[in-house]
Formats: sequence, structure tokens, C-alpha cells
Amino acid sequence: MDTDRWLADTRTSYDTVAVSYADRIRDALGREPYLRAALAVFADSVRAAGGGPVADVGCGPGHVTAHLHELGVDAFGIDLSSVMVDVARRDHPGLRFEVGSMTDLDLADASLVGLIAFWSLIHVPDEAVPTVLRHFRRVLRPGGPLVLGFHVGDESRLKTQGYGGHPMNVHVHRRQPDQVATWLRDTGFTVEAHLLLDLDEPVPGAVLFARRQL
Ligand SMILES: C[S@@+](CC[C@H](N)C(=O)[O-])C[C@H]1O[C@@H](n2cnc3c(N)ncnc32)[C@H](O)[C@@H]1O
Repeated sequence: MDTDRWLADTRTSYDTVAVSYADRIRDALGREPYLRAALAVFADSVRAAGGGPVADVGCGPGHVTAHLHELGVDAFGIDLSSVMVDVARRDHPGLRFEVGSMTDLDLADASLVGLIAFWSLIHVPDEAVPTVLRHFRRVLRPGGPLVLGFHVGDESRLKTQGYGGHPMNVHVHRRQPDQVATWLRDTGFTVEAHLLLDLDEPVPGAVLFARRQL
């Protein structure tokens, strides 16, 4: 798949749905005790690693960034969609949000104590995942925690509309936790745990906890 093409399609799709996505997701964590527990574990890991900057990559409208902030984490958001970033800045004026892509992270080596990518790696095709994970490893300090959230499954599908019927043109890649764990180990991460969610739903979710090897 042509990188410029799928990135451009993803960016345009989320520019289109940013406002309605934010309206739908703004209070979602309040209904998601297991996700809140996962974020609390991540916040503890960040504290145990000495604290410092944490990137929420593919942050969307910034509700996870803001929740981490409430947990005492020095989190900032990065998103491919400039409209999402505008919405995040509007909803969370005290926090930092930047436009950027996980395929080419514009962050210094070892500059982060932690990194989270919640339901954003789902838009990166298999062949580009190792590049993204190499960026995640490069920008994390040794021992820094990484958390990934994604849809569980074996298929990829083209999402042509969403969040109130708005047009989208974005691939969503479902993955098995074992596959993601293998990619992580191959890139220099230790995989510590995974949490499976919504097991009785058609598309379960997974949250995978890893750590940059020393
Ligand atoms: C399904 S939303 C998830 C947003 C948020 N993390 C959440 O949990 O609700 C996917 C987000 O990932 C962003 N995204 C997709 N590809 C990206 C990339 N290559 N780099 C940075 N952000 C990306 C999209 O713009 C969108 O905001």
C-alpha cells in the first residue's frame, strides 16, 4: 500500500469526523472501568520509572491525554489530523497537542518516559507497523512503558463512513495480541501483560503493556 496515500486518506477521514468523534467519545472513559484500570496501571508505571513526558500518539480529541493528566502524568497528544488537534486544544486548553504521524515521529531519542497509542495503530498497515514500533522504541527511555490498544481479529476492512454517517476512507486493521506481541519483541520491547475487553462483542479489544528493553 502506498504510504502517502493511506496516510492522506486517514488524515482526511479524521479531519472530516473530528467534531462528531469528539462528541461521541468525550465521556466514554466514564463508562469504561477496564480502560480506566489500564490507564491507572500505565500511570503507575510512568511514576515508577521516575516520571517525565508521555506521548499519547493518535490522541484524537485528547480525552485519554486529559485523563492521564488527571492521574498526575505529564502527557501530551500527537495526532495526524489537524482538525482533531484543533478539537483537542479547544476541549483541553491547558494541555499540549501537536500534529504529527507515528510513522515519522518528530521527537528526540529517549525523550519520553512513556508512550500510549490507543486505537490509532489500527490504521497502520502490517508492513508499516515495524517502522512505527522502531520510532516508539527510539523515543522512549530504556525501561519506559508502552501501552497499545487495538481491535482484536484477523481481518482488515475499509471504513467508508462513521460517527454520524460522515464519509471516511480509512482501513481498520484488527490484530491478534500474539501478533502484536511478536512485533514488539522483534523491535526491542519486553511484553508484560495484555488485557482482553468486550469478549462477548463481535469485535473484542485488547490493551497490551510492554516496556522498552534496557
Ligand atoms: C479511532 S481514533 C482513536 C483516538 C483516541 N486515541 C481514542 O482512544 O479515542 C484514531 C486516531 O488515530 C489518529 N491516527 C491515525 N493514524 C495516525 C498516524 N499515522 N499518526 C498519528 N495519528 C494517527 C487519527 O487521526 C485518529 O485521531
